[in-house]
Amino acid sequence: MRWGRVELLGLIHLGELCLSIQEGREAACKKLACMKLPITLFLLLAASLMAQPAPEASPNHSRQHSHRFGDTERWVKAWESPERDAQQQPDEVIRRLEIKSGQVVADIGAGSGYFARRFATAVGPTGEVLAVDIEPGLLEYIRHRAEQEGQANLTTVLASETDPKLAPRSVDLVFVCNTIHHFDDRPAYIQLMKSALRPGGRVVVVDYRPEAVLEHGPPAWMRLPAATISSELESAGLATEILEFLPVQYVVIGKLRP
Ligand SMILES: C[S@@+](CC[C@H](N)C(=O)[O-])C[C@H]1O[C@@H](n2cnc3c(N)ncnc32)[C@H](O)[C@@H]1O
Repeated sequence: MRWGRVELLGLIHLGELCLSIQEGREAACKKLACMKLPITLFLLLAASLMAQPAPEASPNHSRQHSHRFGDTERWVKAWESPERDAQQQPDEVIRRLEIKSGQVVADIGAGSGYFARRFATAVGPTGEVLAVDIEPGLLEYIRHRAEQEGQANLTTVLASETDPKLAPRSVDLVFVCNTIHHFDDRPAYIQLMKSALRPGGRVVVVDYRPEAVLEHGPPAWMRLPAATISSELESAGLATEILEFLPVQYVVIGKLRP
């Protein structure tokens, strides 16, 4: 349990009050008066120790949902690690989404572009992929790599924490991988994603199951069950389906109703 300043000051005053009562009652009050200063100092020391900030839930995630990824080099290394592919199965995820050539895909929370680059291949030169993120460093990495790899249909969008900055009715697929648990106001954000969809468009959420045992990734308290995401997408008016083929993640598809 952590104590606020008001409670701590109250504790100090309580200690002093007890001493005063004691002093009034006992003949040995002079002895106790000598103890008053050390006891007050002890209480102050205890107060300062208890007032230390609570430790973070994990080294990478504080006890809040929004979370910054400013260290580009560190996060690119983590998200692009070859070991990720076996668990993430990006090609299988994209195959199941049945992306068509010429479609427009927005990858929100694109990170290093791990999925965005693959979407850019799937939609082909007549399609477009918008890599959306709030970290300028990561977007710079995506731009540089797309240029190097000749992916002219991959562009970047600098979003704010509450708005992906997508034009209304402009995309066929909004894809959100390992990111939706960072949104503070999901219903509002889901509305923005929905309003960016073209007729027949889909919002696809890939995220970690709360019960999955992870070596890396968000702590269990931060993860959201597939049923929660599904019901939030349904509340926004989308028709949902849950796919369970990945080892530690689910895929929720929310389709715009005709
Ligand atoms: C755990 S990473 C996932 C990256 C990528 N989707 C992947 O699977 O490799 C989360 C990403 O979401 C971004 N992000 C966090 N909050 C965001 C927000 N409110 N809007 C857009 N992007 C956000 C972070 O900057 C980070 O790049």
